[in-house]
Amino acid sequence: MWKVVWAALLLLATVCVQRGYTKEAKGAQSLGHVSVVIVGGTGDLAKKYLWQGFFHLYTNQVSSGYSFSFYGGGLSPNDKATPILFEVLKGVVCPRELSVERCALVKEQFLRLAEYRQLNTSEDYQALGKHLTEQLRQEGLVEAGRLFYLSVPAFAYADIAEKINNNCRPTDGAWLRVVLEKPFGHDLSSAQLLSTQLGASLKDNEMYRIDHYLGKQVVSKILPFRRENSKHLDLIWNKHHIERVEIVLKETLDAKGRISFYEQYGVIRDVIQNHLTEVMTLLTMELPSNLSNTKEVLKNKLKIFSALQRLDRNCAAIGQYQAYNAEVQEELSKTREHFSLTPTFAGIMVHIDLAQYEGMPVILTSGKMLDERVGYARILFKNDIFCIQSHSSVHCKPKQIVFSFGHGTLQYPAILVSKNLFKPDLMDTEWKEVTEHKDVSVLGLPISDYYVLTPTVERESYAELILHIFQGRKDSFISAENLLASWSFWTPLLQSLADTFPRLYPGGADNGNMLDFKLLGRKVTFANEALVMVTQDHMGGSGRESFQVMQGKYRSADMVSAWPEELIVRLAGDLQVAAENAVREGGRFHLALSGGSSPLALFQRLARHHYSFPWRDTHVWMVDERCVPLTELDSNFRTLHDHLLQHVKMSYFNIHPMPVQMNQRLCVEEDSGALLYESDITQLVNASSFHFVLLGVGYDGHTASLFPGSKLDASGNSLVAFTESPAKPHQRMSLTLKAINQAQKVGVLVMGKSKHELVTQLSRVKDNPKHWPITGIRPTSGRLVWYIDYDALLG
Ligand code: BG6
Repeated sequence: MWKVVWAALLLLATVCVQRGYTKEAKGAQSLGHVSVVIVGGTGDLAKKYLWQGFFHLYTNQVSSGYSFSFYGGGLSPNDKATPILFEVLKGVVCPRELSVERCALVKEQFLRLAEYRQLNTSEDYQALGKHLTEQLRQEGLVEAGRLFYLSVPAFAYADIAEKINNNCRPTDGAWLRVVLEKPFGHDLSSAQLLSTQLGASLKDNEMYRIDHYLGKQVVSKILPFRRENSKHLDLIWNKHHIERVEIVLKETLDAKGRISFYEQYGVIRDVIQNHLTEVMTLLTMELPSNLSNTKEVLKNKLKIFSALQRLDRNCAAIGQYQAYNAEVQEELSKTREHFSLTPTFAGIMVHIDLAQYEGMPVILTSGKMLDERVGYARILFKNDIFCIQSHSSVHCKPKQIVFSFGHGTLQYPAILVSKNLFKPDLMDTEWKEVTEHKDVSVLGLPISDYYVLTPTVERESYAELILHIFQGRKDSFISAENLLASWSFWTPLLQSLADTFPRLYPGGADNGNMLDFKLLGRKVTFANEALVMVTQDHMGGSGRESFQVMQGKYRSADMVSAWPEELIVRLAGDLQVAAENAVREGGRFHLALSGGSSPLALFQRLARHHYSFPWRDTHVWMVDERCVPLTELDSNFRTLHDHLLQHVKMSYFNIHPMPVQMNQRLCVEEDSGALLYESDITQLVNASSFHFVLLGVGYDGHTASLFPGSKLDASGNSLVAFTESPAKPHQRMSLTLKAINQAQKVGVLVMGKSKHELVTQLSRVKDNPKHWPITGIRPTSGRLVWYIDYDALLG
């Protein structure tokens, strides 16, 4: 019966549509006219979700007394973009409840109501404003409101908001709603700035900051679920019962096609700061007495934000899929030297400083190019029952509640409560219990071990939120306070990770357990060490030696790798060979040694086995020195002295500490300490070419005392220079790249697990001495050999 009524209504509506405004809207019962403008109307998001969402709104509201017009706005001229827009519009699909005939009619109507407009200059917006008003006048319509959906990069928001404010405000009494897509800023200060800029053109109640996760049916049911089931949950929703909370968004896709966005944001800003954080607050906030009281919900959310413990880099493990860098180079037209530190994966542990949750980890994790597409929040409860009859006992199975957002094995949104917890109450008639299941498991439990609740009708989150915007329901959107609280929580972590190497992962199933991470107290670390990417085209060696020592190529130079002790033996042996050859050929061996902790084991080895080494004919030089008196413990010379020089028999005249202290002051340019050292080198070392320079490499890629960002070429032809270190003591004296690259052999010693990520990262960066001074080591005619122990190479 209703179908007949519908068809009749529709026919009537269709006949009355001129440019598309329905007759009902013109009549006495008209609720007014709504103009919808999607700025960025032919962009990806609009194509994928927005037009579909607005079509859904239209089908939902067309008979409610409102009339509509839709505009897709963009920078392209009309003739170019109009066909594109209509291609998109033709693709919208009707809700299942519409018959085929009605669907065809409503779609046709919708298409007639839509048009493309170029929206670039102020004049374009002025023309749009005039057009909207004129249309209302011509059709005799009362205006209900104007809805602008800004689906454009955030940098354009302030400008567009200003143009809307100046040219497109609705007539008196009608509302203006401007929808802003995330990202709202990049960190706390940019979010504050954006807020202020937008505040100059729009009132807070006119801004709808969208986070589409809040439109997901399962996410929007978290609070109602907690409320409806509070008789079960009140007792167990705390640190005594909850083992941990996991909020997970795993994706299989890469970031191709949107690198210019992704490169600026990375996974934490893209989905963790917003989507996953919102879920976290909904799960942990105190239940408001009235769930639809927006103010109370916000107040409780803010309480959680202010109780979050500050994060630092120890709280996160980050990764980057291996092909990402090449995608950046290609999409952003970067050179082969460019490399990116943007994380595409992150696992983060958060703690909440509230008596209720103290010590209870909340894990937020997300990544691109992972093995499966799945999104969920899981509350895993502690289990204090020891089951003797383990397999048959329901008590020993995991006790958990899973909010499954709609991907993964289940394929539909659901709230799952393991049967060993309690039977949940249905929240309302929009949800139902599923009792017939496919044979699947969800997070370690067969589906039959859960009570499963799912929405009776599945709805897409954008469609849902568009409806809320239309209804002026601000509770599903991000308020300014909420936004700033979230950024002030995430910004310190983002800053501390800014120069951290993400672990590289191959992507998909090949990731194996590379990205598993473990929680050690307040620290997050990868559970397994990653395999390093080394170009091993010349792996070789023979007999016993090849068993212990591996030779290969690293950054297209020679590499020797072994267990730490063997490596030191090998390096000491190579030094001795170099020394003997040099002494045989020219009577002297000029050796330049670095500071730092890596060479200590070598110094000790040389000290213990000094009898056969030609120390008598060896000159020891410093690669670099800290500007402290040589007697201080953090002087490189003091370390060298204590661990090596005092144990070997060599002439005092052959020891060449750097003159960092002159005229009773440290590293003062006019004292010309650097020049003095340089002149010693020039006089004593044949062609200023050391026989052997031993280097280390720091976490930031520095070598000697040449740090990232320092003007390495500023020292021109000098061999020795004063430099600045980011760490204390800041002032340093160092051999320059020129002096090092003149050497006959340069060895770079890298030891210890903590250098593993660095070794991995360095294996793929191109030569870029400004960012990675170590990559400036390219001996002009000598040989470079990397000595990397297995801990650093393989983890
Ligand atoms: C978006 C992110 O906000 O959320 C994307 O920009 C991400 O990178 C997407 O893929 C995930 O949303 P959903 O709804 O597909 O889980």
